[in-house]
Amino acid sequence: MAAADSSVKFSVLHRTCKLLVLLCFLHISVTLVFYVRSLDTTSAFLHHLHQHNTTTAPATGNGTGTGTGTGRSKPPVDVPKEEGEKKKGLDKCPETSPLLVGPLRVDFSSPLSLELIKENNGQLEPGGRYKPKDCEALQKVAIIIPFRKREEHLKYWLYYLHPILQRQQLDYGVYVINQDGDEIFNRAKLLNVGYTEALKDYDYDCFVFSDVDLIPMDDRNTYKCFSQPRHLSVSMDKFGFRLPYKQYFGGVSSMSKQQFLTINGFPNNYWGWGGEDDDIYNRLASKGMSISRPTGEVGRCRMIRHDRDRKNEPNPQRFDRISHTRDTMTKDGIKSLSYQLVSRLTMDLFTNITVDIGRP
Ligand SMILES: *[C@@H]1O[C@H](CO)[C@@H](O)[C@H](O)[C@H]1NC(C)=O
Repeated sequence: MAAADSSVKFSVLHRTCKLLVLLCFLHISVTLVFYVRSLDTTSAFLHHLHQHNTTTAPATGNGTGTGTGTGRSKPPVDVPKEEGEKKKGLDKCPETSPLLVGPLRVDFSSPLSLELIKENNGQLEPGGRYKPKDCEALQKVAIIIPFRKREEHLKYWLYYLHPILQRQQLDYGVYVINQDGDEIFNRAKLLNVGYTEALKDYDYDCFVFSDVDLIPMDDRNTYKCFSQPRHLSVSMDKFGFRLPYKQYFGGVSSMSKQQFLTINGFPNNYWGWGGEDDDIYNRLASKGMSISRPTGEVGRCRMIRHDRDRKNEPNPQRFDRISHTRDTMTKDGIKSLSYQLVSRLTMDLFTNITVDIGRP
């Protein structure tokens, strides 16, 4: 009996011990869990306190406050910096834009309202500026348009060109260089002014010089710069979609900043119609450069028909001038340019620069 009794007692003790060990284990576990959780909340609390400190520290203006403030304000400052780096780190746009559509219908039969033109250009920034949102443009292009009293032509130009230039994924700005007064017109000098004024805005590395009345008929004719000066308006309807002569450099052309500076820019002394484009050709030929061109198919463009403007009569001196380009180009050019800026207006679709360029 005694043996059986003690064995029962032992078994009870054994169970009690087991239970106790289990309870102890449970207790430790729960304590541990709460301990860890309390650690989190204190650190969160400290963190909160810490941010609160940094935001209020500058307001208190005392030395130690700002001192610790600058030390601790690092994390909030780092966040926008990372975002900035992401934006900077945009991939370069491809060599050929995937947005191009090829041949375009261009017609000048119906007049355009400014509203219609603006509807077409939702992406534009003030001054007629644009850059692609999802890639980094390969070139920064200033488009220079010599101008006087051709508002209707400018409307067509803006209507057609802005969507094309955006599909070409260019980082660009449009500069209309308006010759003030009623003196005889000087296209090349206005182009020199455009080069100078555009560089006051932005670090452009490419310049496209375009007459206001020429519209490309194919968006694969990219308004950018190439390893040689580029002639873009190679097959104009006016000339039966052919090049009038091999050295022709009129209408629309482009030059990198480097190419432009190599030829000392353009001549300033061609007043009236004609000759300045041949002078420009002579300048680049004398520096060993050649003309780069798109194919006749891609380079098709349409000219808005008009009567010749008054005060832009053919320049009788042009043939004599052209024959002396090599002697005159070092003295006459971007280095000797002088003019008076009359006004500079940031319009929605372009930058309007009015200048007094003097008289012959
Ligand atoms: C550009 O500004 C001048 C000077 O204010 C103004 O006379 C001219 O009409 C403007 N040109 C265009 C195309 O808006």
